[in-house]
Amino acid sequence: MYRITKAEKLADKIYLMDVEAKRVAKSCLPGEFLIVRTDEHGERIPLTICDYDREAGKVTIVFQVVGASTAKMAKLQVGDAFADVTGPLGQPSEFVKEDIETLKKKKYLFVAGGVGTAPVYPQVKWMHEHGIDADVIVGAKNKDLVILEKEMAEVAGNLYVTTDDGSYGRHGMVTAVIEELAAAGHHYDVCVAIGPMIMMKFVCLLTKKLEIPTIVSMNPIMVDGTGMCGACRLTVGGEVKFACVDGPEFDGHLVDFDQAMKRQQMYKTEEGRAMLKLTEGETHHGGCGHCGGDQ
Ligand code: NAD
Ligand code: FES
Repeated sequence: MYRITKAEKLADKIYLMDVEAKRVAKSCLPGEFLIVRTDEHGERIPLTICDYDREAGKVTIVFQVVGASTAKMAKLQVGDAFADVTGPLGQPSEFVKEDIETLKKKKYLFVAGGVGTAPVYPQVKWMHEHGIDADVIVGAKNKDLVILEKEMAEVAGNLYVTTDDGSYGRHGMVTAVIEELAAAGHHYDVCVAIGPMIMMKFVCLLTKKLEIPTIVSMNPIMVDGTGMCGACRLTVGGEVKFACVDGPEFDGHLVDFDQAMKRQQMYKTEEGRAMLKLTEGETHHGGCGHCGGDQ
């Protein structure tokens, strides 16, 4: 069992938990994710890792209540436990494999949208621990939905907070801040954008124009998280990829966001899944138990 040692509500429908998961904590790296189940019959819920403490054998997860399974998760308290925590899954962020001296010469801009602030945090923290101060933009709908601001301020070079309604920090979406920084002469070698798909799409349209290479973390629906079910299929640079094993991070300028968003909607209904099975054929090879593709 994977015991919960901290459970906090960060904002409306957004929760943070520390969970004992020694194996994951021992080896996880920024960019990777895990899958939790509240009980042995529960839905598999993929979550990006927000933080980890190797010595204590704990990982921190942040999640938003979006349906019955996450609502059930939100009710868990300190002392309760998850039936299962599987991970680390996926590929770590590219920069953890780079030569540190080369990396130090690059200026990174992280763009975190809403709950996407949680997976951005371990990346910025990793950079800070390796002597690199990256700039960070955190965007949220309003003041109450800004999360992890204090934690991010401790590890970021410059932190720019912006809200859609102007109730806190700057006024406007994250893209407006990127434009402002570019206009003020800030130069960035790499942008990492994590948040809702629509945000990542518009950040990528802008950074393409500004000629800033951009990495995004894709969060399509995932079921098995091991490349078997086909749920998380994407097209990147004209090639079929699976977010759970090939990603979740990809070159944002090559991702087909419109297809990913359409597919996300279709996957939610039985009819949509049947249509995907029909159109995607072999690469949607079933195994998820949802679409019947394996029967
Ligand atoms: P949100 O809708 O509040 O958006 C967060 C910020 O993104 C906004 O404040 C704005 O600055 C920016 N944004 C949104 N739409 C934009 C647009 N059209 N152009 C430019 N900027 C835009 O975010 P939320 O409600 O916290 O997001 C929830 C979604 O994020 C869920 O769908 C969840 O699955 C996803 N998510 C993604 C990841 C990931 O790894 N990519 C991680 C956690 C959550
Ligand atoms: Fe990626 Fe199943 S979740 S293939």
